[in-house]
Amino acid sequence: MRDPTMVGVDGNAAAGGVVDGSALPPPSSSPPQALIERLKDYGQEHVFALWDELSPQERLLLVDDIQSLDLSSTDRIIRCSLRSQGLPVAAIEPVPESCVSSVEERTMEERERWWKMGLKAISEGKLAVVLLSGGQGTRLGSSDPKGCFNIGLPSGKSLFQLQAERILCVQKLAAQAKNEGSAGSVTIHWYIMTSPFTDDATRKFFENHKYFGLEADQVTFFQQGTRPCISKDGRYIMETPFKVAKSPDGNGGVYSALKSSRLFEDMATRGIKYVDCYGVDNALVRVADPTFLGYFIDKGAATAAKVVRKAYPQEKVGVFVRRGKGGPLTVVEYSELDSSLASAINQQTGRLRFCWSNVCLHMFTLDFLSQVADGLEKDSIYHVAEKKIPCLHGYTMGLKLEQFVFDAFPYAPSTALFEVLREEEFAPVKNANGSNYDTPESARLLLLRLHSRWVAAAGGFLTHSVPLYATGVEVSPLCSYAGENLESICRGRTFHAPCEIAF
Ligand code: UD1
Repeated sequence: MRDPTMVGVDGNAAAGGVVDGSALPPPSSSPPQALIERLKDYGQEHVFALWDELSPQERLLLVDDIQSLDLSSTDRIIRCSLRSQGLPVAAIEPVPESCVSSVEERTMEERERWWKMGLKAISEGKLAVVLLSGGQGTRLGSSDPKGCFNIGLPSGKSLFQLQAERILCVQKLAAQAKNEGSAGSVTIHWYIMTSPFTDDATRKFFENHKYFGLEADQVTFFQQGTRPCISKDGRYIMETPFKVAKSPDGNGGVYSALKSSRLFEDMATRGIKYVDCYGVDNALVRVADPTFLGYFIDKGAATAAKVVRKAYPQEKVGVFVRRGKGGPLTVVEYSELDSSLASAINQQTGRLRFCWSNVCLHMFTLDFLSQVADGLEKDSIYHVAEKKIPCLHGYTMGLKLEQFVFDAFPYAPSTALFEVLREEEFAPVKNANGSNYDTPESARLLLLRLHSRWVAAAGGFLTHSVPLYATGVEVSPLCSYAGENLESICRGRTFHAPCEIAF
């Protein structure tokens, strides 16, 4: 396929571009008849409406663009997804408390056992990490991939760097556990899903930062797919006269993207058995968490998810539910949960009935992942979200078609839910500073508060010239993953906040 970046929006060759008019076939006076017929079958022939006004290069780009779409599967998805909208969803039930490993009931022995089991599996090379990083940070108001975002920590580290350094720390801990103290090498392979909108910038960011100390060959980038954006009556929206508007196919696109990039085979060849899959926009995310992995192995489940208690009814988090009595566990996204259900109270406990929030941190066996990819590929019902779509005249309201990563859960023979404390593991970065919640600033403070508690627990002292609620210290993930091993650095020492504690 030709590279559309070679042509400016106005259809002329971009500066330095190599579109050579002489190499192009003669401009056709009408669009290819066979393509028109196929588009008519699906009610999409309007994409050629401005054909007569297009330059020869633009005509080629348009034909290429249409030919790159899987017209028949897209048509099936559009019809099934639009038809399913507004239909009553299968009744949902709260997840029984007994299905969740709660923080309260967890003993110290269990935690230590799971930590050790997880580290052992990691040291044997059985864990891979998959990062979902194909989303566009529209709500954050940034055109860069979200992982490049610097939330204003004393270190100035980006979300990608925090995550890379946590991987480095777990590798070190696993190597020490394996070699009883002496350093040895353990590698956690990191698969990073991008989309056409984030791919280039993500790769460059990693290259420019020398992979944050990871080996370049332990990081694999792969791209998720896109789907056309549509109007309410199912017609493709045109972004330019020669390009259909498209958006990433949702974070559930990870399954087909892993499959089409042949990464299940790649994982199997490396001896990987378990896959930790998470969203990029949580400043406290414990990537490759040994405790969670140990718990997952101990349970023998096919999938697991970390959950936190929902803070308030309107919080923008998906909640775990059971589909029907005794049905499978799944997530209902905040945008799809009826507001009366969202605020329903369990009369016995006084808590929200649907209280187990999804934090987008999942664990899968590789076996389950590769099986579910086939199942989901046949699923024609996508989530439909009304969003602002770039179009010929600026922006229009239209529909995006997405699969969600948790659409896989109903296919799982068993799912284990693992409660974690939000103040330890959930600092979402969703909205620009100035919004009321889930901003870089709120995530920064959550991280600083947690790390300040670690330092105090390790015998360190803090001084501060701004109120402590607005500041704190940051502990480099290269020193400590979850607050461990800080005594030798902190005991008896005083740190002036804000600052980063690093080696
Ligand atoms: C997501 C969860 C929600 C959860 C919340 C917690 C999904 C569908 N929803 O909501 O249940 O309570 O996080 O913070 O998982 N992404 C892609 N490709 C895409 C779209 C998104 O890789 O096409 C990635 C994003 O880069 C991000 C993650 O998926 O890392 C979550 O996506 P986002 O759209 O931000 O989900 P939320 O609405 O915040």
